Amino acid sequence: MQVIVCENYDKMSREAAAVVANQLKKTPNSVLGLATGSTPVGMYEQLIRMCADGEISFAETVTYNLDEYYPLSPDHVQSYRFFMNRNLFDKVDINKANTHIPNGLAKDPDEEGDRYDKAVEAAGFIDLQVLGVGQNGHIGFNEPEEELYEGTHLTSLTQDTINANSRFFMKTSDVPTRAITMGMGSILKAKKILVLASGKNKHFVVSKMLSGRITTAVPATLLQTHRDVILICDKAAYEG
Ligand code: GLP
Repeated sequence: MQVIVCENYDKMSREAAAVVANQLKKTPNSVLGLATGSTPVGMYEQLIRMCADGEISFAETVTYNLDEYYPLSPDHVQSYRFFMNRNLFDKVDINKANTHIPNGLAKDPDEEGDRYDKAVEAAGFIDLQVLGVGQNGHIGFNEPEEELYEGTHLTSLTQDTINANSRFFMKTSDVPTRAITMGMGSILKAKKILVLASGKNKHFVVSKMLSGRITTAVPATLLQTHRDVILICDKAAYEG
């Protein structure tokens, strides 16, 4: 795992945006795997600026997001579809038809998981997967468990994650307790992975990711098995 430690959140965001920008310059029709959460927002802001400056274009880019709350409508302000439109898609030259997020209203979530995995495969798999990490080491919504899933699936959020994500909702009881998430297998099939971590509260996960040990109790540790991962974090996340 290549590790880049940046002075602060802003520098981390610029460094991460440069990785995505290089990918798009090299291969404009790349398949990007995208993440939500507060961590990648600064990187998305940089990409929006670069796109406005004509430095990069998303016109041919295809995207697949990691996860979506279940059940939740794409129009809901807390849905990840809404988040991606507001923080990136509405502000760059991407064709929305090329942006994909698991359907939070799917009648049959198992079928939706299969459909999503097949769509990623048909697109030639993900060229560059952007990831944030949960404080407990979750990736997407692959929560610490004795067994993890390979493919996209319906899952339940842990109380820790519900509490951490409640800051985006009016009250904790509004946070959906389930989500459809890409599985660890789907994520590890990406050709290249870019992980972002910012802030003291991510130090635990960063140290586990660099520990040389792998455990499903901290799903982010599985990233150590992938041959092309860049971790870009700030000093606070690295040093604790
Ligand atoms: C959510 C998302 C994850 C994300 C995590 C961390 O639970 N499902 O993909 O990495 O939040 O969020 P933040 O970046 O706000 O700490």
